[in-house]
Amino acid sequence: MKRILTGIQPSGHITLGNYLGAIRPLLALQNEEDVELLVFIADLHAITVPQDRVALRHNIKELAALFLACGLDLNKAHMFIQSEVPCHNQLGWVMECNSYIGELERMTQFKDKKQKQTDGVSAGLLTYPPLMAADILLYDTDLVPVGEDQKQHLEITRNLASRFNNKYGETFKLPEPYILKTGARVMSLVDPSKKMSKSDSNPKAFISILDDINVAKKKIKSAITDSEGSIRYDVENKPGVSNLLTIYSSLTNESIADLETKYANSNYQVFKEDLANIVGDFLSKIQEKYNYYINSSDLDLILNSGRDLAYHYASRKLQKVYHKMGIGRY
Ligand code: TYM
Repeated sequence: MKRILTGIQPSGHITLGNYLGAIRPLLALQNEEDVELLVFIADLHAITVPQDRVALRHNIKELAALFLACGLDLNKAHMFIQSEVPCHNQLGWVMECNSYIGELERMTQFKDKKQKQTDGVSAGLLTYPPLMAADILLYDTDLVPVGEDQKQHLEITRNLASRFNNKYGETFKLPEPYILKTGARVMSLVDPSKKMSKSDSNPKAFISILDDINVAKKKIKSAITDSEGSIRYDVENKPGVSNLLTIYSSLTNESIADLETKYANSNYQVFKEDLANIVGDFLSKIQEKYNYYINSSDLDLILNSGRDLAYHYASRKLQKVYHKMGIGRY
């Protein structure tokens, strides 16, 4: 049995980037034989930067309903909220004590996020990767479907696991990232040199999965391209068009080469119009299911059973870790 695990922070409304980078590969793996999926809402990670409590509580529930709306198969997948399984904090602390400040300070995401904080940088922002390592290592995870930006976090997770195994004996499985070739780094629609991010201050930069359909279509139609007019994939010289081709290809499973041929004699307006319709159809299907789950009492039952199963797995691993380290009495 292969264990697949991923988490998303409820730090805003999830975007098309989150879907294509993390949820789409998760759904692809879900179709394989003999897999178990653990999916969680990383609320403890979200508080490494300031959050409004009302918005955070809303976003947690919204994200849970969205995971289901995207097509999690509950015969194979278990969903839970990170803070409801305290073993994450507990192993997170152990991982912190096995991390070096220098290696944490060198993490790209820490350096980026640190610059954006005007009201001081929390220690949690620095110790974010050991907590993420704990999330993954608690469950003997084989594969972690994520976007490109999480690759470095997976590397440090593997390093921390090996370090612990060398020191205390074989304890943790070394996880592999699962990153798709297309869609692992969806870019901003207004500045294609930047990643599409749910916390971008300009809402035109990202498409939220819950955007009003017409608003989302408009965002695609007004996405930055270039003045050349030809629809080809060339990230260096045509980052805007290349990003739209990536989105198109990921949502339709048509290859980028086929799309270049299809639109060889076309113009940006036609291309964008088609993509806007594809994005609109995609969002409306998910939104319909979202509206069902967000209003259903099933949501709490699903989160309760996910929490109980996660706790069952995680507490056993934590006990082993404590025992090996000499923590507590047993
Ligand atoms: P987060 O919440 O920033 O993003 C969730 C997932 O979406 C991917 N992603 C993208 N993929 C493609 N293009 C984009 N523009 C884009 N933006 C985001 C991210 O790579 C991620 O897979 N640290 C994680 C949350 C986390 C986690 C974990 C993930 C905590 N513990 C354990 C996996 C396993 C994060 O900040 O994701």
